[in-house]
Amino acid sequence: MNLRRHFSSQSTLKLSLGFFFASALLFFSGCQSESLTTKLTHELAPFPELIIDNGDDFVVIAHRGASGYAPENTMPAMQLAYEMSAEMIEVDVMLSRDGVPVLFHDAKVDELTDGTGYLKDYSLVELQALDAGSWFSEEYVGTTIPTLEELLVWAQGKMTLNVEIKTEAFREELEQSVEPKVVALVEKYDMANQVIFSSFDYQILARLQELAPSIPAAVLYEAVQSGRKGPIDVVNELQADGFNCSWRQYSEQWQQLLEPSAVPVLIYTVNEAEQMAELIQRGVNGIFSDYPDVLAEVATAELSTP
Ligand code: G3P
Ligand code: MG
Repeated sequence: MNLRRHFSSQSTLKLSLGFFFASALLFFSGCQSESLTTKLTHELAPFPELIIDNGDDFVVIAHRGASGYAPENTMPAMQLAYEMSAEMIEVDVMLSRDGVPVLFHDAKVDELTDGTGYLKDYSLVELQALDAGSWFSEEYVGTTIPTLEELLVWAQGKMTLNVEIKTEAFREELEQSVEPKVVALVEKYDMANQVIFSSFDYQILARLQELAPSIPAAVLYEAVQSGRKGPIDVVNELQADGFNCSWRQYSEQWQQLLEPSAVPVLIYTVNEAEQMAELIQRGVNGIFSDYPDVLAEVATAELSTP
């Protein structure tokens, strides 16, 4: 017998067992929320008015516009979502180098345009010179990155919006940061009842609450910032008006915690019909999908079934 090998395999076994038990302990303690409250400690700002509303109390949300059919966060994707009878459009907002809110998802422009590098290093004029459509298909060559203002002008009185604000748009200095800029734009176009803000960034949410408490703002659940808190604890802490989370996170336990509070629950990003149907049956208030036409069809079928 090779003693050294025998010894080392014995220690490996002990180490592995130790690791296994430690991991199991961590896993089970990680599954325990510190608090399981269902009690809201603040009043919710009203959910925005749905301008297109099929009256079934479920919201069909086009994720980044109808981004399964046109380049995400561009005006053609907005137009298609409108034509597909989406009841809300979700967009992502970032800031150009010169501080203009624009619609864009990634920190870098490489994958979604013909440019390279960080979006925050481009001025608005430079961003507008990029091609944000050719990566998607020939049909969209020459499509540009829209500003948030351009979207608001298009959507005014026409389409309800979920304006998601990306953490990259946060600046320490409030005046340079995204929050006062988006609030000013929504107020300029008198769209406070047509918009819900959301963010994964809890500093951004806190500032939005302070600047414009009457414009609803949903928390996008973020595990690291939330630790082991339950969903209502997170909502309470941020005085949020909605809870948006991934279908991966929306457990039965969370559903039970959220339901009594009437906090709107919007789930992203669901592109499979079967999964849409299952979530609708579980009673979620809305779903973000790249295929709003498919979602609308599934919702109609599910919600008209006796
Ligand atoms: O707002 C819902 C969803 O868009 C959040 O994730 O990465 O697609 O912006 P992401
Ligand atoms: Mg988004």
